[in-house]
Amino acid sequence: MGITVIGSLNYDLVTYTDRIPEAGETFKANSFETHTGGKGLNQTVAISKLKQVDADYKIQMVGNVGKDAFGEQLLGYLNKNNVDTSNVGTYSDVSTGVATILVEEKKSGQNRILITEGANGKTTYTDDELAKIFNNDDNDTNHMVVFQHEIPDPVSIMKWFNQYKDNYKIVYNPSPFHPLQKNDWSLFDVLVVNEIESLQIIKNIYPQNYVDKVETDIANDFIGAYSKLCEELQKNVMNPSKAAIVIITLGSQGVLFSSADDQDVQYLPAIKVEKVVDTTGAGDTFLGGVVTQLYQGNTLKQAIEFSTFASSLTIQTPGAAESIPHYPDVITSLGVNTK
Ligand code: RIB
Ligand code: NA
Repeated sequence: MGITVIGSLNYDLVTYTDRIPEAGETFKANSFETHTGGKGLNQTVAISKLKQVDADYKIQMVGNVGKDAFGEQLLGYLNKNNVDTSNVGTYSDVSTGVATILVEEKKSGQNRILITEGANGKTTYTDDELAKIFNNDDNDTNHMVVFQHEIPDPVSIMKWFNQYKDNYKIVYNPSPFHPLQKNDWSLFDVLVVNEIESLQIIKNIYPQNYVDKVETDIANDFIGAYSKLCEELQKNVMNPSKAAIVIITLGSQGVLFSSADDQDVQYLPAIKVEKVVDTTGAGDTFLGGVVTQLYQGNTLKQAIEFSTFASSLTIQTPGAAESIPHYPDVITSLGVNTK
């Protein structure tokens, strides 16, 4: 029983600055830090830290690092956070994935990220390799497997799960965005996207006149248009037999969510925070929170509310994985804010 994340591990090199230099321009930044990152690693750590304290289930990360000091640190961080790393491979012919991140301190901790794939490029598996990793779980029913798109081909791994492990619930966070075949958007049970990614899906599979209409609607009625989009993805893009869930995060504007169990798309506003320090890891925290909450049997609405609070704590602390709060911190914050 448990949750597995198949994804990327990056060593984050973060420079904090007031503004981004122009081409050819040089000036002093404010500070530099290194952090534990990668969307796969961050989401795994989020799941582990945000797991209900008394809940007992295995959290596993599947991915790859290089045989170098960065890789060692990332593995150490996962182990320290009670993540099973027995299926994280170490390669000596490539280096650990690296993310170069610029955080604009005077612009709400907004970030710009460049990724060098490194060992994450090795995260592909044959059917036999997948069977070796997952076949011991045969008798269990409660499983979730989580994907992002910082590895070469998550879709073919999802197809393996659909074929051989239909008791696994598949969660997909299409970040960074990649176009998929239309039918492949129905491979998963839970889709978590931000506003840009949700539009990219529409652009990927609908004709231009439909896209134009959606964009005009967004300009006129932001929440209304995204809520229609959420419904469209849930009803006509995802697989109806999977009782699929669609969640669209709108940053400071809040979250929209829809599932086969609910009549209408629901909306929850964002939490206002005093000072945003670094938004890196906010999306990963949100996703991790949703996954643990759903896995533990909470309702979708409870999961969204919990995760909104969790990510509001992440953006008030520098770094990615290290800035993710623990379950009790979120519960305290929920209590304080709902009084
Ligand atoms: O989602 C944030 C992450 O994106 C960073 O930690 C960085 O490594 C990139 O993968
Ligand atoms: Na952060």
